[in-house]
Amino acid sequence: MTFKIGLLGLGTVGTGTAQILLDAAGRHPLLQELEIAKVGVRSPDKPRSVDIPTDILTADLEAIVTDPEIDIVVELIGGLEPARSLILQAISHGKHIVTANKAVIARYGEEIFTAANEKGIYVMLEAAVGGGIPVIQPLKQSLGSNRIHTAIGIVNGTTNYILTRMQDEGADFAEVLADAQNLGYAEADPTADVDGLDAADKIAILASLAFAGRIKREEIYTEGIRQVNAADIAYADKLGFVIKLLAIAKREDNPKSAQSTEDRLQLRVHPTLVPKSHPLANINGVFNAIFLSGEPIGEVMFYGKGAGAGPTASAVVADILNVAAVLKTETEPIPHPLLSCTHHHYCAIAPMEDVMTRFYTRFLTEDYPGVIGQLGTIFGNNGVSLESVVQIGMRDNRAEIVVVTHDVREGNFNQALEEIRQLEAIASIPSLLRVL
Ligand code: HSE
Repeated sequence: MTFKIGLLGLGTVGTGTAQILLDAAGRHPLLQELEIAKVGVRSPDKPRSVDIPTDILTADLEAIVTDPEIDIVVELIGGLEPARSLILQAISHGKHIVTANKAVIARYGEEIFTAANEKGIYVMLEAAVGGGIPVIQPLKQSLGSNRIHTAIGIVNGTTNYILTRMQDEGADFAEVLADAQNLGYAEADPTADVDGLDAADKIAILASLAFAGRIKREEIYTEGIRQVNAADIAYADKLGFVIKLLAIAKREDNPKSAQSTEDRLQLRVHPTLVPKSHPLANINGVFNAIFLSGEPIGEVMFYGKGAGAGPTASAVVADILNVAAVLKTETEPIPHPLLSCTHHHYCAIAPMEDVMTRFYTRFLTEDYPGVIGQLGTIFGNNGVSLESVVQIGMRDNRAEIVVVTHDVREGNFNQALEEIRQLEAIASIPSLLRVL
């Protein structure tokens, strides 16, 4: 059967989403049952980088959300209005919703989910937090057995890019922001990112899922990164910290000052000194990560690209597949396509001798002139390119030589090693390890 999709918006993420939907080969087989029925855009006549038939482009977005043919509305126009009204209208017409719009969900989640629950439809938002990083479904499903204590995110790529460059270059905020804007890493109006508003939207959504309750967006303490300067980054570095914009949601188990005995949450976004040993300290540039701790799982971290066409569209299409799978089981007596096995063939596995990898090898040899030359010649004759050769010193009265190769075919490396073993100068080859 075919599930018809109404796409609202054909910007960066909309184009990425259309590209995946139009190129199903090698992805989940259910993708072949998805059809882009209509695409809502501001200018239907504008040339597009994706091959969408022009007759399905329309500037009439209401016609999409009310179209009886459409099963799933994918809202990728962003901003508060008309996105909120279109989502509500689509819900009232029985359409399932997939959205990347964290601002709408963080502010109007109650209105939207109440309407959706009344209608018995789904609102999916994996792309709203962390772009391509799967964190919404894990919180809802894979981690569902846990009591979550903490969710800490680096959930804004723009500010993480700026702070990483400030750290690496010793530069000040204004200087790096201006450069990031020139390079297209920061918006012309960077307010939502640098003042922490985008991160606050995202932690509102994460906290709501992690702690199973509604969050009032305006109650999140929010501080951006404008006041972070090069001197503080340098001092923090000396003290063993990096400065990151963290979005933090914590369950307060024993609030000392609480008037009630009920658990409270801490919800805050602010620049934070993070110990260099913490996993979040190594999340750099535009990358995002979400660090969770819960009982009984302990600590778990999700890492990846938090923005951009491909990563965000990856999450959007995953949500579309989730909805399509449910719709399919409602109409056909089949196992759920995402929970059951849909594979029917064996994958071809490359034999180890064809694997391309780097090698680290340690040789113990006689110590006389020309040994390293002999090794180099044999490796070279077998097409094995060397990255480094070092003679470290003596061990057990032998010269100890360590060789690291470039990426080479394992079969060629083994052939070279076979020839090297025959050399009179080789006493032993005590170590042979692959390098990532
Ligand atoms: N503006 C966001 C960021 C990307 O810089 O991470 C979209 O959520």
